[in-house]
Amino acid sequence: MRSPFSRRAIRRVMRNVRALTERRPAWRARLDQWMAANARELLKSARGEAHLDDVARELAQRLTPVLARLCEGAAVLDDREFATEFQNTLSWLAYQGDITRKDSKLRAYCDVTASVAILTRLVNEIAKEFSRAGLNESEVASKLADAAGSWREPLIIAGRRALAEGRSDDAAKYARRALNIVSACPESQRLLIDALRERAGVPDLRGRFCPRPFEVLVSGQTTAWNDATNTTEQVMGASYLCDCAAWVPFIAGNVVEAVSPDDVWNSEAAQEIRRSILDGDFSYCSRTLCPIIVNDTLPRSEDVTAPRLRRIIDRRETILDDGPRLIALGHDSSCNLACPSCRVGLVMADKPQNERLDRARERVILPLLRNRQVGLHLTSWGDPFASRHYRSILEALRHDDFDGVSLFLLTNGLGLTKNAWTSMPHLAEKIVELRVSVDAATKETYEDVRRPGRWEIIRENLNVMGELSRAGTFRRNRFSGGTQSVTSDLFLDTEHASFVLAFVVQRANFREMPAFVRLAEEVNADTIVFQRYYSFGHEGSDVFSSKDVASPAHPEHQELQAILADQILQSPRVLQTFMAQLIDRPAC
Ligand SMILES: C[S@@+](CC[C@H](N)C(=O)[O-])C[C@H]1O[C@@H](n2cnc3c(N)ncnc32)[C@H](O)[C@@H]1O
Ligand code: SF4
Ligand code: SF4
Repeated sequence: MRSPFSRRAIRRVMRNVRALTERRPAWRARLDQWMAANARELLKSARGEAHLDDVARELAQRLTPVLARLCEGAAVLDDREFATEFQNTLSWLAYQGDITRKDSKLRAYCDVTASVAILTRLVNEIAKEFSRAGLNESEVASKLADAAGSWREPLIIAGRRALAEGRSDDAAKYARRALNIVSACPESQRLLIDALRERAGVPDLRGRFCPRPFEVLVSGQTTAWNDATNTTEQVMGASYLCDCAAWVPFIAGNVVEAVSPDDVWNSEAAQEIRRSILDGDFSYCSRTLCPIIVNDTLPRSEDVTAPRLRRIIDRRETILDDGPRLIALGHDSSCNLACPSCRVGLVMADKPQNERLDRARERVILPLLRNRQVGLHLTSWGDPFASRHYRSILEALRHDDFDGVSLFLLTNGLGLTKNAWTSMPHLAEKIVELRVSVDAATKETYEDVRRPGRWEIIRENLNVMGELSRAGTFRRNRFSGGTQSVTSDLFLDTEHASFVLAFVVQRANFREMPAFVRLAEEVNADTIVFQRYYSFGHEGSDVFSSKDVASPAHPEHQELQAILADQILQSPRVLQTFMAQLIDRPAC
């Protein structure tokens, strides 16, 4: 008897043979020519125009066998296997780190400008092919999106079509579905904003100012195509100019590849992002995720008085000689946990990666920290005590030439044992903010959302941290060091925020929010950050939607709203800037 696997394989071979022998329309019969004539002109490559010929050729080669299945008729658009193969094949283009749509100035880490542009043209051809079956472009795109399950490009195309046809509510629904796949996606956000524009209006930010791109450098990871393995891989070092990469997801440079700090801090992309702030178009800022935009608390340019920022505004400076005021590192994923909200399995850098990280530490990271008054945020990705690289940076800070460094630690806290404090005595002297991600108030929930963390260990460690905080250690550092120059009120929302507990609100834990406030009181934490659950793209949109209880579409959303209204959540310990992302607002 044949196994289901071999039956499926035979079906696939038969289908391919049938598809290849059937008569194909001209555009698919010579897809290489179609690509050269229709696709190439839509794209731009940082590797130069000539490279685009190779890209168009390769894409045609990859897509030819996939699109051959269109010979089976319009029903194939509803087939999950077809849609997923189509999606995976086009992903090859989306993950080419040098390629964008022709009119894009910068590339986002989750960029789909190029693949949306190509798919738009492909959808147009497919709709023509199936016009006799009564299908138009909107229907082709929406069928592909439904069949694939988690594919941003057809959702964006269907949303754009809906908008063009005056169906802004439908467009907003498509945009939200795309944002459930990757919350930071600028194309999906733009669609949502355009869809909401008529109904709710969008704030005009001209005349406003944000200091972040003039003060902050954040490093992280991107996904790119690996030609050798013919699959995707994580690339370390992509760097951004805002506290959270998701708020300005456009890449300013790469701290791991750079030869000097200037390659990143004053790159052309960095200058363009700063220009967008000075001109007031805020083109690279997320209007759905940035809490300062969402809460409408950006200062007016004319009200900025800090001398350095005043000079930058008046002289329209986009090249900055004096380096970032705050450096937030997240380019090494290494971590002792695999929280389901963040990743699918344990990640630890290997030897060759650690060697590259050592070079980056010497060439870029330590020079940005040496003999300067600067804040160092460790870490936005990975964990400062599980990563060999981050630990080596913390070790280097023992030396006198790093006296001006103030530490903002963000950690899962499991490595911050009593022994860790004893072996690195300089840490306690440098920390101005210690933020610990806990996400739970009970053992059962903690061990579910912070796997494979142990509740007993975090509770013990929180007690130790609480004692240090109670002794005033972190607060003393804040007022004795150079933190006055670090104007990041996202990390330091109030002058009291020294020991902070963080909680990513999701279905598994939202009922523990009141108990979490009590836990913070018990361990003497100054502040609690209830953070909205973002889609990092590692779990399908269905899984994400089932956890994102802050979404009005979630069945338990009203229960969350009731909890948010609880008196205990109005505690002064709870940071209200972030609460605004959870509380229902009419616009988003
Ligand atoms: C990626 S972690 C890196 C630092 C450290 N390992 C930690 O957990 O605090 C940075 C922050 O992202 C939060 N986080 C994890 N998954 C998230 C998600 N899906 N949405 C929003 N924040 C998330 C973590 O709880 C943590 O506060
Ligand atoms: S996203 Fe928000 S915080 Fe970041 S630069 Fe733009 S306005 Fe500033
Ligand atoms: S501890 Fe932090 S970096 Fe590690 S998996 Fe959890 S959220 Fe991600």
